[in-house]
Amino acid sequence: MNDSKKILLSGVKPTGRPHIGNYFGAIKQFIDLQDTYNSFIFVADWHAITTVQNGETLKQNTLDIVADYLALGLDRDKTVIYKQSDIAEHAELTWIFNCLTTMPYLMRAHAFKDSEAKNKEINVGLFDYPMLMASDILLYNTDVVPVGQDQKQHIEYARDTADKFNRIYGDTFKLPKALILEDVATIPGTDGRKMSKGYNNTIEIFASNEEIKKAVMSIPTDSKSVEDKKDPEKDSVFLMHKLFTNSTELEGLKKRYTNGGIGYKESKEILIKNMIQFISPLRERREKIGKDKDLLLDTLRRGGEKAKKIASMKMKEVRKKVGTDVY
Ligand code: ADP
Ligand code: TRP
Repeated sequence: MNDSKKILLSGVKPTGRPHIGNYFGAIKQFIDLQDTYNSFIFVADWHAITTVQNGETLKQNTLDIVADYLALGLDRDKTVIYKQSDIAEHAELTWIFNCLTTMPYLMRAHAFKDSEAKNKEINVGLFDYPMLMASDILLYNTDVVPVGQDQKQHIEYARDTADKFNRIYGDTFKLPKALILEDVATIPGTDGRKMSKGYNNTIEIFASNEEIKKAVMSIPTDSKSVEDKKDPEKDSVFLMHKLFTNSTELEGLKKRYTNGGIGYKESKEILIKNMIQFISPLRERREKIGKDKDLLLDTLRRGGEKAKKIASMKMKEVRKKVGTDVY
């Protein structure tokens, strides 16, 4: 820990294979920022239980996600990598926050409203999701939380909760800020909607060459011919080029889109080539790291020890203020 650096923290739910949206919307920021901040990245396994209710699956997903992050470039000597459920303080603080929070306030959360609109069965864990997330963030004196646009409201919940606690019990929690890179805020999926596991429109960040080809070829385009002028910003293929194609080649493509002279088929073929070039080395690293279970367990253990020290110090302060600390 370097005291002059600000604190960055983010959590990831171990709920499946990471896709390009997760990578460019979230994971890449963690990796790029690990030199600038004191970084904490944790596996949000308690959050995952709101939907993943199979022990073996949760365990496997947890190890998988650690392997994913290490393969993508998270450095365990720079970033504290740990598992939420190893730090019981997250749950303890959640309870205290539950007692300060009102039902109508939680009922305004987008995630809750979406589930309600879809008539889904909503468990209490899902309803309370924002309070566990507030605890995750506030226990570590977090300054910034890098997340995708869809998580912005959750960070506001954490800020409001910190503010409420501070007003009742005196200054205790730092108010965190969301860190959202605007130009990659929402990565489109293969159907043009936001890329999301829920929409079945994802391309995995460790996809095989065949999967990449198939996914890119399936991206729908309009019926313009090669000669027609095209607005690059309205084409999902071009939006993906922005992520995988170098700036010189991208400029050339942009001109050919706006002046006419490139068909969607050629554009897709260039995208496939560039995606394969980007993804194959990552996939190879992932395969190697995934086989080293000791490394994965050791990463979580080491990270957990470091995180525990900070969270338990903060929790001591909280208990004193709340009055549960009588000894
Ligand atoms: P999914 O929608 O596929 O279930 P998650 O909810 O697990 O994705 O998202 C994990 C992280 O990745 C979050 O920080 C989220 O904001 C980010 N993220 C997910 N999809 C995208 C996307 N299409 N564009 C940008 N960021 C995304
Ligand atoms: N809710 C986040 C997601 O769906 C995961 C998460 C849990 C998180 N706790 C967090 C993100 C704390 C940032 C900070 O992706």
